[in-house]
Amino acid sequence: MDDLTFHGVDITYGPAGVPPTVKSVSMTARAGQTLGLVGESGSGKSSLARAAVGLVGISRGRITLGDRVVADASARRGRPRPSRAIQMVFQDSVGALNPRRTAGQTILEGIAASGHVPRADFRPELERILDLVHLHRRHADRLPRELSGGQRQRVALARAIAARPEVIVADEVTSALDVSVQSAILNLLRELQEQSSLTLLFISHNLAAVRYVSDHIAVMRDGQVVDQGASATLLANSRVPYTRELVKAVLTIPPLTTT
Ligand SMILES: Nc1ncnc2c1ncn2[C@@H]1O[C@H](COP(=O)(O)OP(=O)(O)O)[C@@H](O)[C@H]1O
Ligand SMILES: [Mg+2]
Repeated sequence: MDDLTFHGVDITYGPAGVPPTVKSVSMTARAGQTLGLVGESGSGKSSLARAAVGLVGISRGRITLGDRVVADASARRGRPRPSRAIQMVFQDSVGALNPRRTAGQTILEGIAASGHVPRADFRPELERILDLVHLHRRHADRLPRELSGGQRQRVALARAIAARPEVIVADEVTSALDVSVQSAILNLLRELQEQSSLTLLFISHNLAAVRYVSDHIAVMRDGQVVDQGASATLLANSRVPYTRELVKAVLTIPPLTTT
């Protein structure tokens, strides 16, 4: 198990000379723990998520998983080397799932990608993973449109887990769901993390969700991490005014409950 670390990362969209959208981000998702990344829409959270899985290049700094370099701005113009070890799950599970593939077929893609499971064991492995994400065997034969939003998000998580990653980057995975379903998915993430000893980078604009799952929290604003620390400390007594504002806003709504 290794830490996922961002070392002074800039991300720049557009031609050279344009100022970076994400500036000097340094943060660590510790091995086997959850780093929550919170910040308003447009602050650069998804850009960092995409950089971690090689969907976008970085213009300065490095991203490492232990000794392994995931992205390096000084090598090959920052062109990332995607790694199976880091899997991403998105908000839009409808868009992320192939509409013509059943849940089972989608999860089997992940199992095949793991490279760990002989073909003869695909079926039992599929059943194990369905159990892990609390989907019924019969759901395996359904297409995305025949599943609820929460069930689709379970399929997307299942595919990610099936690939046996070390890190899951979960970008707004609960944001499109009803509150009750959100709690169920957050509980599932916590459970998966404990059972599979995953490292989780949990990204959300919603501090209520972030605080529910995170050991550490980084707060983003306008492309920069303006605050970070252990969840309890950061929530209780951050010195950063922006964090205090966010915390105050979240304390006025009821906490997410375990359902
Ligand atoms: N592919 C892109 N090309 C140009 N600008 C982009 C691209 N992706 C994101 N941006 C811009 O970068 C900023 C940060 O976006 P994003 O990382 O998606 O933020 P968040 O996930 O926090 O809402 C936004 O201003 C957005 O418009
Ligand atoms: Mg985003």
